[in-house]
Amino acid sequence: MFKKILYPTDFSDVAKSALDFVKQLKDAGAEEVVVLHIIDKSSLDALAMYTSKDFLQIEKDWEASAASQMSSIEDELKEAGFEVKVRIEKEIPFIGILKVEEEEDVSAIVIGSHGVSNVQEMFLGSVSEKVIRKAKKPVLVVKR
Ligand SMILES: Nc1ncnc2c1ncn2[C@@H]1O[C@H](COP(=O)(O)OP(=O)(O)O)[C@@H](O)[C@H]1O
Ligand SMILES: [Mg+2]
Repeated sequence: MFKKILYPTDFSDVAKSALDFVKQLKDAGAEEVVVLHIIDKSSLDALAMYTSKDFLQIEKDWEASAASQMSSIEDELKEAGFEVKVRIEKEIPFIGILKVEEEEDVSAIVIGSHGVSNVQEMFLGSVSEKVIRKAKKPVLVVKR
């Protein structure tokens, strides 16, 4: 049931707790983890619209920062004995997560209940809510 895990992360504290949970799934038979970060396409579009010549540099810095955070997660999971695949995509976050769920044919998704916005009054975050609603595979929600 947990052989191949999809772990989407926005690098928030809640997503980090979800990573601890992913590691614990080793004992439940998890072998492979697909670590996924989505660079929000609509934020990129907004950036392109409201900044001028710096846009490409900001986008590059954004990608570089994502790549470096992904690489430390990759190391951490490899050290824990997992086979790891890292993916960074430019998409609307929930759509990207659902696309990769299909493409990678994962067994389950482990996601944080909340993310960087972490609005106190919200029962679920905007991304986790849509993923739970629309995913085909079981979703494990790690609470904040
Ligand atoms: N851009 C993203 N790329 C990958 N995973 C994401 C992204 N945004 C959110 N997630 C996942 O969804 C979880 C919930 O985040 P989200 O629904 O955005 O909450 P919030 O609205 O509090 O930011 C995160 O802990 C993370 O696992
Ligand atoms: Mg969010």
